Amino acid sequence: MRLDKYVADAMGLTRSEARELIKRGGVTMDGEPAMAPAAHVDCQEVLYKGETLKPKGLVYLMMNKPAGVLSVTEDKNQRTVMDLLPDSYRRSGLFPAGRLDKDSEGFLLLTNDGMLAHEILSPKKKVGKTYEVGLARELDDEKIYILENGVDIGGYVTSPCTVEKLGPRAARITITEGKYHQVKRMFKAVGNRVDALKRVSFAGLELDGSLAPGEYRELCTKELDKILRTIQ
Ligand code: URA
Repeated sequence: MRLDKYVADAMGLTRSEARELIKRGGVTMDGEPAMAPAAHVDCQEVLYKGETLKPKGLVYLMMNKPAGVLSVTEDKNQRTVMDLLPDSYRRSGLFPAGRLDKDSEGFLLLTNDGMLAHEILSPKKKVGKTYEVGLARELDDEKIYILENGVDIGGYVTSPCTVEKLGPRAARITITEGKYHQVKRMFKAVGNRVDALKRVSFAGLELDGSLAPGEYRELCTKELDKILRTIQ
């Protein structure tokens, strides 16, 4: 995103007001003075007179969901991913774009952008999701071949996917669908059982390895652009 648009969105200014403000000085990108309205904002931190600037309104969080919480906005009895967020985020109308089972971990996107969530979850978009799984039994090449070419998970045959063996009982699987309990049902269909499941990539973005389970951070502009390109 151009710096003048970024500053305009963050400060509620018109583009020309933002351009004037930038040219007058006081805006920095990652600590360096930024005087060019056409400069490109990727993941830099943008400040005006020392205050962090962030475009208002839409929020996109990457969370490393821990096992043991539900990926829904509310539940009467059980803890949800919303319980891991401070009030400021809970008030912005965030919801999980997609689901991970209660016992699953990894990349969960939380947003209040209904349009983006709709697109990302649309089966037509075939958005890629990569999971690392721990398995109860050894995985051989024949089972990998069957999984990659489609298995019947109970009245539905899965689309082609990729499976990479990480160890005798560990694999990485990338699917472009999102059927209920899909990965667990796929391994069950080849006589195996998923004992641990972590989503490591979603919509073209890798889970940030520095996020401990339960931690989250906002996506930067570059990451959001990457998602937008995936769903174009
Ligand atoms: N597939 C599953 O079976 N569980 C998840 O949480 C995600 C994908």
